[in-house]
Amino acid sequence: MAAGKQIILITGANSGVGLDTAYYLTKAASNHVIMGVRSLEKGQKALDEVQARKPQGSLSLLSLDISNDESIFAAVKKVEADYGRLDVLINNAGNQVQSRAPSREELRESFETNVYGPVVLTQALTPLITASKGKKIINVSSELGSISGNAKGSGPPFTAYRMSKAALNMFTTCQQQYLKGQGVKVWSFCPGFVVTNLAGQRDGRAAMGAESSETSAQAILDIVDGKRDAQAGTFIGRYDAQFSW
Ligand SMILES: NC(=O)c1ccc[n+]([C@@H]2O[C@H](COP(=O)([O-])OP(=O)(O)OC[C@H]3O[C@@H](n4cnc5c(N)ncnc54)[C@H](OP(=O)(O)O)[C@@H]3O)[C@@H](O)[C@H]2O)c1
Repeated sequence: MAAGKQIILITGANSGVGLDTAYYLTKAASNHVIMGVRSLEKGQKALDEVQARKPQGSLSLLSLDISNDESIFAAVKKVEADYGRLDVLINNAGNQVQSRAPSREELRESFETNVYGPVVLTQALTPLITASKGKKIINVSSELGSISGNAKGSGPPFTAYRMSKAALNMFTTCQQQYLKGQGVKVWSFCPGFVVTNLAGQRDGRAAMGAESSETSAQAILDIVDGKRDAQAGTFIGRYDAQFSW
């Protein structure tokens, strides 16, 4: 099913940006998308949804809870056994704690999912990524993680979320430095303000004029297709946006 194809793993692929990206990437027959999900039940529903749109590429499900090391290492083993390499890793799974003055618990919740998970997963997958042709890592961040942007004082006061995405951005620059000698390209990507289940606010987002997360998926497809290669190692967004850290 996946032989000869570009192998792509998306975390948090059962919902929102991840789900639309699974569909966009499987428009091409040359792609195999592994949908990383922490609930296989939700994942199967999402996979069926994508299959109903008759994609040309192929799909599979992978049990992956990025806040759990056992789950991460089992998933990496499975990718290695099934494919022996990984062309593209999309660290998409995330959460959004919205308080201005987060508790220790809220900080932990934010960093476990938005920072520690992607870091542990990426490091465990690095040998499979360097063994591939694609050699791409896309860290789904947020413009709210821009320190220079926040210093100008705009947007919602989501302290823990902003801090976690700023830390994820630093990870992007570290990985770009450490892995560029092996031909790996790394981006931080903000999907924009889009309608998803993030923080359980699908209806509120739509009412505030958020766009479809298919616009984010199209931009991720452009990165995977090499259209944003010149911006590797930087912080980018939809519609050719370039953000400052
Ligand atoms: N929507 C926006 O406007 C926006 C703006 C900027 C950045 N982003 C970023 O975009 C990314 C995708 O979010 P989204 O907007 O598409 O929200 P979403 O619809 O809530 O999707 C988040 C996904 O992450 C998964 N997830 C959460 N914790 C996980 C864990 N520990 N292990 C594995 N999967 C986990 C969720 O799984 P469950 O369904 O099982 O909970 C879900 O599949 C996030 O990194 C978010 O910060 C979104």
